[in-house]
Amino acid sequence: MTHDPKKPVLLTGASGALGRQLARHLGEAGITLRLTDIKPFPDALPPGATFTQADLNDGVAILRLAEVCGTILHFGGVSVERPFEEVIGPNIRGLYHIYEAARRERARVLFASSNHSVGFHERTEQLDADCSYRPDGYYGLSKVYGEMMGRLYWDKHGVESVLVRIGSCFPDPVNARMLATWLSYADLARLVRRVIEAERTGCIVVWGASKNARMTWWKHDAREVLGWEPQDSADPWTKQLEGVTSNNPVVERHMGADYCGIDYTRTD
Ligand SMILES: NC(=O)c1ccc[n+]([C@@H]2O[C@H](COP(=O)([O-])OP(=O)(O)OC[C@H]3O[C@@H](n4cnc5c(N)ncnc54)[C@H](O)[C@@H]3O)[C@@H](O)[C@H]2O)c1
Repeated sequence: MTHDPKKPVLLTGASGALGRQLARHLGEAGITLRLTDIKPFPDALPPGATFTQADLNDGVAILRLAEVCGTILHFGGVSVERPFEEVIGPNIRGLYHIYEAARRERARVLFASSNHSVGFHERTEQLDADCSYRPDGYYGLSKVYGEMMGRLYWDKHGVESVLVRIGSCFPDPVNARMLATWLSYADLARLVRRVIEAERTGCIVVWGASKNARMTWWKHDAREVLGWEPQDSADPWTKQLEGVTSNNPVVERHMGADYCGIDYTRTD
């Protein structure tokens, strides 16, 4: 079945930092949006958009929300390191609900994965998109699960997924690590547009970082399938931020940084 970019787009996590940016941008672009989050949507609704407050744990609500949608932009869930019991509902069960909805609607999924799925790789490495997973906590582990869910639903059901391993998507970079990992809001928005519009994607991985000179860690992904290239860069912040590091060697050695240091008990 061919992908239809004109069908409504479901955006989960709409009330979150990235969701709000995307709601505004996609709304301005004339895309018909169905917004959802467990928290109320704090902004004015974009023209033609609806908002439904729902928990990702509620499978029936997610199936209803996804009805006739052509793309599901899945940005909802626990977005930082939290105890296992807090992560499992939104990020594991919730993800299953998203993929079951995508299967029923034959919708394409953009899964907001994370660099924390590979966070225990060292910064001296250069990773291809098919590198080994090295999650740096329960949050990163849930992102690995999400990427594997995307693979399963592609192999078994032909559900397309774009698995975006987002680096650090914030208004500006704020420390030395982000000179490598920063993804501008505008680059994210352009990427999401391409995910909605691309004719065919299959199941692919894209590293979500801007065109930063220090981004030597992540190479060779499937961005050409989307026709996406980042345009922004953290480079203008180099002088200001290159000294902004921690004094923790575990944090500084690994790509996942402070997440690697949380509850770290190795002594060797
Ligand atoms: N911002 C980044 O740099 C970055 C980096 C890597 C990955 N990501 C991923 O991108 C997505 C968005 O990130 P963000 O920075 O906007 O995070 P955020 O925490 O601001 O937004 C996540 C949203 O999910 C909602 N949510 C949480 N539990 C829910 C539930 N049970 N049911 C429904 N909604 C629920 C929250 O209310 C929140 O509004 C997340 O999946 C995150 O893991 C972000």
